[in-house]
Amino acid sequence: MLELQHIYFSVNTPEGVQHILKDVSIVIPDNKLIVFTGPNGGGKTTLAKIIMGLVQPTSGKVIFNGQDITELNITERAKLGISYGFQQPPRFKGITVHDLLLLSAGAEKLSKDRCCQFLTKVGLCANDYLDREVDVSLSGGEVKRIEIATILARNSSLMIFDEPEAGIDLWSFARLTETFEQIHRSQDATMIIISHQERIIQLADEIVVVAGGEIAHRGSTEEIFPLILANTLGGCPVLSKEEKK
Ligand SMILES: Nc1ncnc2c1ncn2[C@@H]1O[C@H](COP(=O)(O)OP(=O)(O)OP(=O)(O)O)[C@@H](O)[C@H]1O
Ligand SMILES: [Mg+2]
Repeated sequence: MLELQHIYFSVNTPEGVQHILKDVSIVIPDNKLIVFTGPNGGGKTTLAKIIMGLVQPTSGKVIFNGQDITELNITERAKLGISYGFQQPPRFKGITVHDLLLLSAGAEKLSKDRCCQFLTKVGLCANDYLDREVDVSLSGGEVKRIEIATILARNSSLMIFDEPEAGIDLWSFARLTETFEQIHRSQDATMIIISHQERIIQLADEIVVVAGGEIAHRGSTEEIFPLILANTLGGCPVLSKEEKK
């Protein structure tokens, strides 16, 4: 179980202190698929980075399986079973896709078949990619898919995907949603997926709308999805704090 307790995150800017997250508290039970959605700049990525330990909250606690992990670094959190896929994944010159999968799986050897299984789940063919370097020669969508494959290889108990749909073509995206569904059905991992994508939002056990640095609303897909749709047609009560109050 993951618990965020009164998370605040503020930064000093030339204009003064900017409050990016304001008193975010949430409990995420095991083996759920939770979608964080909401407007650009709402604070979703910051929240994900706080869970992974890439960003330290100004105040508040992150509790994972009963342990206070607020002070733990990324590696320590990874060892506890948390993994995170960047909204814009980094590239690693000199490291091949095979090396990355090996590192992620924490294995000394990974058969081609096994690598192929991970890559197929994100719509890539192992033959074409295993020996490629994860450098600028790969397209944005390819890097994104390779990073998602490395998260799958890590086999973590809490996986955070930051806009997995970004830059991914429709065919690969269909594969990817199938993979999320499969993991969810097998009930052996918790997934937090930051997404604006209808297909992913519809897979969720719960949708959490993050707006203005706060949890503006949370509820089932049936409750929240129509409100999100309404927003695209103009005016969404869940995205507007004023209307909520
Ligand atoms: N270190 C920082 N310094 C200044 N501003 C920051 C910092 N980190 C985040 N922000 C700002 O905080 C806000 C929230 O950013 P965040 O990346 O969490 O949003 P998001 O909900 O993921 O948005 P998107 O949907 O566009 O990915 C943005 O306005 C961003 O510019
Ligand atoms: Mg983001």
